[in-house]
Amino acid sequence: MIVLIGGEKGGTGKSTLSVNLAALHASRKKDVLLLDADKQASATKWAQIRMEIKGSPLVRVNSVQKQGKGLTGEVLGLAERYEDIVIDTGGRDSVELRAALVVSDLALFPFQPSQFDMWSAESISELVEMARGLNPNLRVLVCLTKASTNPVVREYLDAQEYLSGFPNLPMTDTIIRDRISWRRCIPEGRAIFEMPSPDEKAIVELVQLYRTVFESARDKKVERLALNT
Ligand SMILES: Nc1ncnc2c1ncn2[C@@H]1O[C@H](COP(=O)(O)OP(=O)(O)OP(=O)(O)O)[C@@H](O)[C@H]1O
Ligand SMILES: [Mg+2]
Repeated sequence: MIVLIGGEKGGTGKSTLSVNLAALHASRKKDVLLLDADKQASATKWAQIRMEIKGSPLVRVNSVQKQGKGLTGEVLGLAERYEDIVIDTGGRDSVELRAALVVSDLALFPFQPSQFDMWSAESISELVEMARGLNPNLRVLVCLTKASTNPVVREYLDAQEYLSGFPNLPMTDTIIRDRISWRRCIPEGRAIFEMPSPDEKAIVELVQLYRTVFESARDKKVERLALNT
C-alpha cells in the first residue's frame, strides 16, 4: 500500500506524522519504506539520527532520486520491493505531490485548524478530483493536527464545519493535538511511543490514526476483493 502525506501548507505536521506512522508500522514487523520526497529532507535527517540509537527498529528511508514526474515511475518501482510505502512530501502544490497522488492508494492531508490552512482546502479538493481522474481508487483523508489541548479553544470545531463542505475530503476521527512530545521525538530520531517518558495521549492519537490509515484500508481492500468474487 502506498500512503502519501501531503498538502499545500507548510508546517502542518506531515513529516512528523510520516516518520511516526512508518516507525509504528516497522515496529509491527511490516516491510515499510519511508520515501522522502521533500528537498528539506526532514524525514531523512530524522532517520540519520535514528541510526545511532541502539535497539530501535530500523526504518528504511529513501530520498527520492527522481524529481518531478519521474517520481511516479520511481514509486511504482519501489512498490515492487516493499509491502508498504509512506511518502512525505513538501508543503506546497508541486509536481512531486501530483506525481505521487497518481500512484498512491491513500492520501492523508494534515490540516491545522487555522484559517490559512482552511483556505487551502478548496485547492486540495480540486487536486484530489484531478488525481482521481487518473487514479480512481485513491482514498483521501484529512486529519486535523496541532489542535490546541485547551478545552476552551474550539477552533477545531470551526475547522471541522468548514471542511465538511468538501465531501471529497473526509476527516479522520483522530485529532492530533499540539503537544510538546510530538516535537521532542523528532530531534531524538525516535517515534513518540519510543520516548523515555511516553506521552500516553499522543500515543493514543498516533495509534488511532495508524489504524485508520493502514487497517481500515486493508478492510476496504478485502471488501473490494470479496465484491469481485
Ligand atoms: N502535533 C504536534 N504538536 C506540536 N508540535 C508539532 C506537532 N506536529 C508537528 N509539530 C512541530 O511543528 C513543526 C512542523 O512539523 P513538521 O516538520 O512535521 O511539518 P511539515 O508539514 O512536515 O512541514 P513542511 O511543510 O515544512 O515539510 C516542527 O517543529 C514539529 O516538531
Ligand atoms: Mg515536512
